[in-house]
Amino acid sequence: MQVTMTVNGDEVTREVEGRLLLVHFLRDHLALTGTHWGCDTSNCGTCVVWLDGEPVKSCTVFAAMAGGHDVRTVEGLGRNGELDPVQRGFIECHGLQCGFCTPGMMMTARALLDRNPSPSQEEIREAISGQICRCTGYATIVRSVQWAAAEEAGTRTTVPSGTTSGSTS
Ligand code: FES
Ligand code: FES
Repeated sequence: MQVTMTVNGDEVTREVEGRLLLVHFLRDHLALTGTHWGCDTSNCGTCVVWLDGEPVKSCTVFAAMAGGHDVRTVEGLGRNGELDPVQRGFIECHGLQCGFCTPGMMMTARALLDRNPSPSQEEIREAISGQICRCTGYATIVRSVQWAAAEEAGTRTTVPSGTTSGSTS
């Protein structure tokens, strides 16, 4: 079957099998390997992309179901050649660690900040609760999102760097 969707602003059309998952469509048909595939049980969340602006686990969506819809992946997170503040936050606060969960975490974080520009630590942790960091370093991930929120609010210098220190998970 043929499927057409918009991915990171570009319309793409490919011939796919009906059973093909969106995560594999993105990685294998479009070479957008920033979206990772980390489990067979829909638990890890490393495959999170946006479907019509909403974070979804792309291993739970058939590529055919995304037909006619707007998909955004981590490759489309930055704009105009600039990294998104969330990406910069992950760099500044060492949220990357091994990097495997990072793309999904950043897509979820961006969606959170678009809805709630000033989330509490608890709200950040709830937002990423469907995603697993195998490095177990949630403290730096939370701190990275806080950095991005503060950066966008123009109050970055007021965020204590050790907000989440003392906790490594
Ligand atoms: S690959 Fe693990 S939840 Fe999608
Ligand atoms: S940074 Fe290694 S899995 Fe999250």
